[in-house]
Amino acid sequence: MSENVYPVPANVASHALIDNDTYLSMYKQSIEDPNAFWAEHGKRIDWMKPFTKVKNSSYDYHNVSIKWFEDGELNVSANCIDRHLESRGDQTAIIWEGDDPSDSENITYKQLHERVCKLANAYKELGVAKGDRVILYMPMIPEAAYAMLACARIGAIHSIVFGGFSPDALADRINGSKAKLVVTADQGLRGGRKVALKTNVNAAFEKVDHDAKILVVKRTGGDVPMTDGRDVWYDDIVGPASADCAPEPMNAEDPLFILYTSGSTGMPKGVVHSTGGYLVYASMTHQYVFDYHDGDVYWCTADVGWVTGHSYIVYGPLANGATTVMFEGVPTYPTPSRFWDVCEKHKVNIFYTAPTAIRSLMGAGKEHVEKADLSSLRILGSVGEPINPEAWKWYYEVVGKKNCPIVDTWWQTETGGIMITPLPGATALKPGSATRPFFGVQPVMLDNEGNEISETECEGILCIADSWPGQMRTVYGDHDRFVSTYFETFKGYYFAGDGARRDADGDYWITGRVDDVINVSGHRMGTAEVESALVAHPKVSEAAVVGYPHDIKGQGIYVYVTLMEGEEETEELRKELRNWVRHEIGPIASPDLIQFAPGLPKTRSGKIMRRILRKIAEDDFAALGDTSTLADPTVVEDLIDNRQNRD
Ligand code: WTA
Repeated sequence: MSENVYPVPANVASHALIDNDTYLSMYKQSIEDPNAFWAEHGKRIDWMKPFTKVKNSSYDYHNVSIKWFEDGELNVSANCIDRHLESRGDQTAIIWEGDDPSDSENITYKQLHERVCKLANAYKELGVAKGDRVILYMPMIPEAAYAMLACARIGAIHSIVFGGFSPDALADRINGSKAKLVVTADQGLRGGRKVALKTNVNAAFEKVDHDAKILVVKRTGGDVPMTDGRDVWYDDIVGPASADCAPEPMNAEDPLFILYTSGSTGMPKGVVHSTGGYLVYASMTHQYVFDYHDGDVYWCTADVGWVTGHSYIVYGPLANGATTVMFEGVPTYPTPSRFWDVCEKHKVNIFYTAPTAIRSLMGAGKEHVEKADLSSLRILGSVGEPINPEAWKWYYEVVGKKNCPIVDTWWQTETGGIMITPLPGATALKPGSATRPFFGVQPVMLDNEGNEISETECEGILCIADSWPGQMRTVYGDHDRFVSTYFETFKGYYFAGDGARRDADGDYWITGRVDDVINVSGHRMGTAEVESALVAHPKVSEAAVVGYPHDIKGQGIYVYVTLMEGEEETEELRKELRNWVRHEIGPIASPDLIQFAPGLPKTRSGKIMRRILRKIAEDDFAALGDTSTLADPTVVEDLIDNRQNRD
């Protein structure tokens, strides 16, 4: 193992915020005395009314309750903007890089302040008040960040729906949150192609069950239908609005945002994040995990539709007064050099992306990287799925020239911020390992019965033993679901849904989900969601969906469908089903492989044995395990004969 350990590079160690001894002592304090630790670090943000209480949490599943800094008051937009005006008003807050390489804009903190205040006043004019929900269905343009911060300014709760979701999925979220306003753009622009955002919103509104308004940013100038009395152009209302808007004092525990995410059962749930604890945690992790120094240019390539965009494009970096890059396009447009061209153009120091992007760019060849001057890079980051050692090494050697530590950050929508990660100046790296917990995070390994494994070296289910400030507080409108999803399976712990291995040094290696969630190109997808979309098709009688290893996406979506009596198994129908799922959920849920299966392997009580389906999808059916409990063992042979994923 020793040849696979990469010590902290000397150039990073000499300037890093945290070295190994500091990490160890701070970590120890954070666990032994969380109240003292977080009382101190809670002060990293500005409070309108200082907190006197710090941690107040219970994981007892009869009474799960999580509160941090509960009597403090603050405003997130004031923390991300106003408090920087005096010292860095003219510094760039956001570097926006458009889809077209000739299109970019630098937005200073002063400009950000003005634009957010104007939009906040426009929201008020549209009837949005403190506590109301606002849905954002936006392309990656600066207005997406303004829209988030303007909600925070007036105490409205935003819920971003990724622009790749379908009108149906959007309608569910508008209805689920009873949103008063949807903010969108006429069209998005990605890789030279237009994304029909407003048209999708119009379609969604056919299913919206309450009154709501639509605020539309003009991005492409495309011709989109507007409805009088409901739809408003952004410039028409924001242009004349006053630039004076005092930030609303919010309680630390008031919700900042809702973000829908997939789980192993049922439809996506609305993860609720708090104002105070979330911001403390997002800003602190951003600073230490990326070894962020004043003046650094920082780029996270995520979309604001995912939690990574919330915490590490907008809230964490801006709370720290950073310069954050926001990229509208895709890694391969106009060429596979795009990421590296942007790094050169804006002299990016810290670069944070997903393994799926690394793998696809690795496939395009290193000449695309070598063309660019990447000498500004100091820290590289990875998030969203396990990074395979081959991609890790390519990232480290070809992109980072062996000078830049890679922080492989494990976390989730639910955790609000990074949980397990190397710190650049403190942690020796191992390709594929997220290594050690961040301050305040207590990972534990459990066996299937829920007993804590005491041996250092082990494999098990990853849980977290106690609360941290960035933790989600509830599922929107359904606290019971919050409790049953995260605290009931393994009582007394937060159940993350991932499996892990802990090596002899105590470093963690995330092995992937242990539930029916799959991770496709770093996007989280519930197999149950895809199944329920499929069985809604008139020709489908039953469907089972599993993940299988995919070279670029990490996992692909493998679908088994049983057709209604008399329906024919044709290529055309495969296509139709693929389009159907894209239409029901969105392009990110599009099945990669579809197998027609006259029968599915079921137990005598009728439960589908997914273990077998997973093995067949992986093209690894030599050891299927015990199939004798199946109601009809012969279906397995047919499934193997007709498998779609063959080497
Ligand atoms: C997976 C994204 C391995 C994991 C921030 C988790 C990872 C799910 C890593 C959450 C990593 C995220 N190594 N697996 N560094 N980061 N994951 O909610 O399965 O979109 O449970 O949050 O992604 O996905 P989510």
